[in-house]
Amino acid sequence: GCINLKLTDQALSERARAMGADPRLGAETAPRPRRVLVDYGGPNVAKPMHVGHLRASIIGEAIKRIYRFRGDTVLGDAHFGDWGYQMGLLIGAVMDESPPVRDLVEQMNAWGKPFDDLSVFDAVTLADLDRLYPEAAARGKADADYRDRARKITAGLQDRQAGYYALWQRFRDVTQVALQRDFHALGVDFDLWKGESDVEDLIDPMVEELDAKGLLVDDQGARIIRVTQQGDKRELPPLLVVSSEGSAMYGTTDLATILDRKRSFGPDLVIYCVDQRQADNFEIVFRAAYQAGYATEGELQHIGFGTMNGTDGKPFKTREGGVLKLNDMIELTRDKARERLREAGLGEDLAPAEFEDIAGKVAVAALKFADLQNFRGTSYVFDLDRFTSFEGKTGPYLLYQAVRVKSLLRRAADEGVAAGPIAIADPAERELALTLDAFETALAEAYDRQAPNALAEHAYRLSQAFSRFY
Ligand code: ARG
Repeated sequence: GCINLKLTDQALSERARAMGADPRLGAETAPRPRRVLVDYGGPNVAKPMHVGHLRASIIGEAIKRIYRFRGDTVLGDAHFGDWGYQMGLLIGAVMDESPPVRDLVEQMNAWGKPFDDLSVFDAVTLADLDRLYPEAAARGKADADYRDRARKITAGLQDRQAGYYALWQRFRDVTQVALQRDFHALGVDFDLWKGESDVEDLIDPMVEELDAKGLLVDDQGARIIRVTQQGDKRELPPLLVVSSEGSAMYGTTDLATILDRKRSFGPDLVIYCVDQRQADNFEIVFRAAYQAGYATEGELQHIGFGTMNGTDGKPFKTREGGVLKLNDMIELTRDKARERLREAGLGEDLAPAEFEDIAGKVAVAALKFADLQNFRGTSYVFDLDRFTSFEGKTGPYLLYQAVRVKSLLRRAADEGVAAGPIAIADPAERELALTLDAFETALAEAYDRQAPNALAEHAYRLSQAFSRFY
């Protein structure tokens, strides 16, 4: 059966007044605040952001903010991919291309310390790295000598040879500056840019400790941790801790990072907002971490997400079949936003700078809302026409409603109209107050299920309720 409750207009009016006086709009805080670290975005040295990073960034940022608003102590970490064999490949490729860079690196390696003047490195840009990296990676696969040299350079970098180390720092810096700009344009900002390199020194002692705990098994020259458990439906591969060539792997770095975070921040929960395709990788690392006592079961959580697809239902590609850079995607969306603004007759009245500013905001609203309105596990189709429309369930529609509310309030203030007590009588008023009151429910769902779409849905309903009310 069910119980029907009918709220009186008076009760609803009182509730609306209370919400109006509360900066949290009736939202509760977590009864026991936790320390939470969100690992998201997943940027790498030498790689400009592409559409694959869009969801990891937008969803991760939303989760970070939702947790923070709920009252947890939250840190966002980019976990910058800045270490390993790729760096050796890249250092070799840049030295091959630029004799002045090569000379400087070799001189510093010989001298054993960094020079004061490193301006030769200024010529190395992210565009160079982006161009050289795929070539070098392909050559490393095909050419054994080239691969060997890249390995030697990697080892030299890990030994902190001055020339390699200084050039690598340049790679990190140029990449980070460019990425921060792109992230910031999307309203995504990290508290920490800890890199994979930051845990490098922890790895040897960690391997020793794992060995002492009896967790390491020799397997054809490699050292692994077995992670299969009773009840597994399929067999999970072991964690490769040290390869047969003696190097630490991606998962080794992640394990050391868990240890590092435990020591420095002591999180109750670490959320990894990373592509669903890495699900197994995380399951393996988490199990190894639980076995090693670096975390307690449940403290590590991977939240994956579906892909952004093209109209063909496959992961979105450019017309040429390549991967779209995030920057280009934002540009495309901005173009579309300009078009929309002109269609709406907003082109002529605005100063060019203001027009551009608004187009940027419309574009970001379009991209972010289109992403966040779906449950994160669901894939969706990239459709700029739909995303940028001022009508329907879109970011620009919400933005438009928010601007309308604000301009009304501004006009009221200008004309000296003061707000009176809220007295609800009309059905549209009731609906608006009830919808406002649903914020706590939406927030709780977004928090408990790590589902920002619950808040996106709430914002949309609120816009509609306001529209009818108005
Ligand atoms: N940089 C990685 C990649 O591009 C993602 C990092 C995700 N976070 C982590 N702790 N492994 O695949």
